[in-house]
Amino acid sequence: MQIKPFRIEQYFGKYEFTAKYLLSSSDAESRAIQELLDLEPGAHDRLLKHWCGYTESPGAPDLRQAIAAIYHPLSPDDVLVVAAAEEGIFVLYHALAGPGDHIIVETPCYESGLEVARSTGAQVSEWPRSFESGWAHNVAVLEKLLQPNTKIIYINTPHNPTGLLMPAGIFKQVLDLAASRRIILFSDEVYRELEHEPATRLPAACEVYENAVSLGSMSKTYGLPGLRLGWLASRNPEILRRCLGFRYYTTICNSAPSEFLSALALRHREVLVQRNRELVLRNLQLLDAFILRRSNRFEWVRPNASPIGFVRLKPEQDVLAFCEKTVRDAGVLLLPGTVYDQPRHIRFGFGRKNMPEALAQFGAYLDSHP
Ligand SMILES: Cc1ncc(COP(=O)(O)O)c(C=O)c1O
Repeated sequence: MQIKPFRIEQYFGKYEFTAKYLLSSSDAESRAIQELLDLEPGAHDRLLKHWCGYTESPGAPDLRQAIAAIYHPLSPDDVLVVAAAEEGIFVLYHALAGPGDHIIVETPCYESGLEVARSTGAQVSEWPRSFESGWAHNVAVLEKLLQPNTKIIYINTPHNPTGLLMPAGIFKQVLDLAASRRIILFSDEVYRELEHEPATRLPAACEVYENAVSLGSMSKTYGLPGLRLGWLASRNPEILRRCLGFRYYTTICNSAPSEFLSALALRHREVLVQRNRELVLRNLQLLDAFILRRSNRFEWVRPNASPIGFVRLKPEQDVLAFCEKTVRDAGVLLLPGTVYDQPRHIRFGFGRKNMPEALAQFGAYLDSHP
C-alpha cells in the first residue's frame, strides 16, 4: 500500500503539544474522566470493576445502543464501533474498494478522506469546492464525475475545513444521485450535533438511504478525542459485515475503558453538546468581529456548524511561512491551508474555553507586526 504523508497531522504533530495557544483545533473543549463519571450515580464504582478482557468486535451492546439512539430508526445491529473516525475511514475504504473501482471525494477535505481512498488502488476523482464560489456545491459537476464503476462518494457535513453545512437541497440531490446508481454514500458526520442553530441539522445519511454509511466520533462535538472511539452506522448489513471482516486485521475490538466511558458520555450527550455549543457560539462572535475589524487582512465565509472556520489571507502571501512565524514568535498555533492544497487560507478553531485569550494573543501579535 502506498500512501502520502498526512500533512494535517504532521503539522499538528510538530506544534500541538508545545505551542502555548491552540487557535486551530477541530475538537471542542474536552473533559476529565471525573466529570464523565459524575454524570451518572454509581459510574465511578462501575468503571473500577469494568473488565479489561477483549470486547465484542462490533462494539459493546450498551454502547451500540447509545449510538443507535442518535439515529432514527436505527438499531444496535446497524452500528460498528471502531477506534475513532480515523479507523472508520481506513476500514471502510479498504473493505469496500480497490483497483478497478472509482471513488469520488468532496474536496478540500480532511486528508484521510482523500488519501486513504487513493491508497486502495481505486481511481479517485475530486468533487471540488472553492472560496470564490462561496464554497458552493455544484451537483452538475458531481454528476459528470460519475462512472459506471463509481463505488463510493465521500462527503463531509458539517465540513472540515470550512465549518459549513451542506445545504439541505444539495444533500437531497447527492442522496438521490447515489441512490439512482446504488452507489455507497460515505458521509463523514463527525461534527454533527454541533450545528450553530440546531434546527438546521441535516438527517444523518444512514437514516435516509440504505446504502449510506454515517461516520461518527466521540472526538469533535462531544470533545472526547482521547477516548479514540468512533463508529460506522448503516442500514446495509453487508457493508458493515465487510467492514468488520477487514477490521479484524486492524484493531480486532475496542478499548474496554473507552467503550465504558463513551457509552456513559453518549447517554448524557445533550449535557456535553450544550456546553460545547455555548462555547462555540461565544467564540464565533469574537472571531467574526476580529475578522471584520481586520478586513484588510482577512475574509471568510462565516461558518454555521462545527468549531472550525477557513479564513482567507489578503493580500496573497505565503501562509505556511505566516503560520510558522506566528507559532514561533507568538506561541499561537494556526493551521496553514497548504495542508489542504488551499494556499491562501488558514484554518481557525474556536471550540476551546481559552479561545478568547488565544485570539487576544494573536491580535496583539498582529498589531505589533502590521
Ligand atoms: C472530517 C473528519 N473526519 C474524521 C476525523 C478523524 O477523527 P477521529 O479523531 O475520530 O479519528 C477528523 C479529525 O479531524 C475530521 O475532521
